[in-house]
Amino acid sequence: MIPSERELRNLAADRGQEHLFAFWEDLSPEGRSALLEQVAGIDFDLVEQHGRLLVGGAPVDSSGGDSFDPPELFPLRRSAEQQEQANQARRRGVQLLAAGEVGFLLVAGGQASRLGYDGPKGDFPVGPVSGRTLFDFHARRLRASQARSGARLSWYVMTSPANDAQTRRIFADNEYFGLDAEQVSFFSQAMIPALDLEGRILMSGPGSIFLAPNGHGGTLAALEDSGCLEHARSRGVSMFSYFQVDNPLVRPADPLFIGLHSLAGARMSSKVVAKRDAGEKVGVIGRIDGSLGCIEYSDLPESLREAQDDAGQLLFRAGNIAAHLLDLDFVDELTRVRLELPWHVARKGMACIDGTGSSREVDGAKFETFIFDALGKSPASVTMEVERSLEFSPVKNAEGEDSPATARRDLCRLFAGWAEQAGHELPAPDDQGVRPVEVDPLVAEDEESFMAGGQPAPTIGAAGHLYDQG
Ligand code: UD1
Repeated sequence: MIPSERELRNLAADRGQEHLFAFWEDLSPEGRSALLEQVAGIDFDLVEQHGRLLVGGAPVDSSGGDSFDPPELFPLRRSAEQQEQANQARRRGVQLLAAGEVGFLLVAGGQASRLGYDGPKGDFPVGPVSGRTLFDFHARRLRASQARSGARLSWYVMTSPANDAQTRRIFADNEYFGLDAEQVSFFSQAMIPALDLEGRILMSGPGSIFLAPNGHGGTLAALEDSGCLEHARSRGVSMFSYFQVDNPLVRPADPLFIGLHSLAGARMSSKVVAKRDAGEKVGVIGRIDGSLGCIEYSDLPESLREAQDDAGQLLFRAGNIAAHLLDLDFVDELTRVRLELPWHVARKGMACIDGTGSSREVDGAKFETFIFDALGKSPASVTMEVERSLEFSPVKNAEGEDSPATARRDLCRLFAGWAEQAGHELPAPDDQGVRPVEVDPLVAEDEESFMAGGQPAPTIGAAGHLYDQG
């Protein structure tokens, strides 16, 4: 039961947050109940902890170590021994997929604010010819894996309360993108209050607290709290393949990665690409004071960002593409001890109401934990390097790098390369110099499977050539 108005007012006042009730007199009875419910949901100890990070305390970042060293990689250019290891790992990965031991975990709770897209990012169209959305691309990759492995897959989609209903509706309206509804489970991460720079909780309206998602580190507790962890266990899942919604090239069902992780006895592993340049906005995986971790781009000091090795390459180039494997038991252990991942502070201007009830932008802070901060808890871990052109072209910004235009260019380049290799005629380049070709992941996931698949004829339309399974 929700505590009474009086109790909540006292609690807020004790914690220096009495302004939460500043507009109480103006609220309708429904507005009042909604506010009480929100106040009752606040973890005031956590708010105070966050406030201390802002006032006086040093901001928490992920670079807090004395030494940072490059990680040991399973590289793209492999020795004969590593090639042998890769062959063995691929077989192991195929077995695990066929046994249904890999559950798929998509994080889609972010707010797509940089992209400026109004709606869940997964609904953003990225298919250069088909106009298919990110969700559809991911679903097709998973369906392709399911067809190969013969095992019925389980897909866990993390939303946030801000986009949960819309995300569920999009899946339902699209008939679960060709999967059965019961194969897809949605769960929501928690939202926590944003603060002004003095540690006071911000209000987004007279009766509403400014809440923001607690970062993808919140996936761990949310998996447990929602019952999805137990659900996955009951279905025989032993590891989660974790991936981000924004990358249409992500390959969550990669037998090599899965097999390497399993054979190494790892509990959490990561894929990386060589950073494009020192300024690329990706986290960098490495050893922080000896422990595996990731330093987020915004926290990487310039001296490390620019450092080069003897060959003149970036020393810290293991760019995190946020594709991880996490053992289910590992997640279970971490949630059972309620592992406290470090909080990261994002200071930004936020649209709020001030003490007089007028809307304005206030300097404030949001707080997030990051899943990759759990890497150091994994006694063994594989950091596998992958080819950027095959696996990474995220849609993050409206324009420039990592935007819809670069994703379209990269997808077309890749697919046109396969078609050309197979001897197909390509469409003429458009005004961006891009030849519009798209291959449905159900048709082929890589050049090898494209060539092996009997090289289907494309549907040729005004938008380009589409190799499609419909
Ligand atoms: C992220 C990684 C970065 C990595 C890059 C690769 C972080 C902090 N950094 O950067 O190390 O190199 O991706 O593309 O993640 N999300 C949630 N809930 C949240 C916040 C985010 O589900 O509370 C999801 C988003 O929907 C998205 C993903 O996490 O799928 C990435 O979030 P974002 O904050 O955009 O991180 P990036 O800056 O893209």
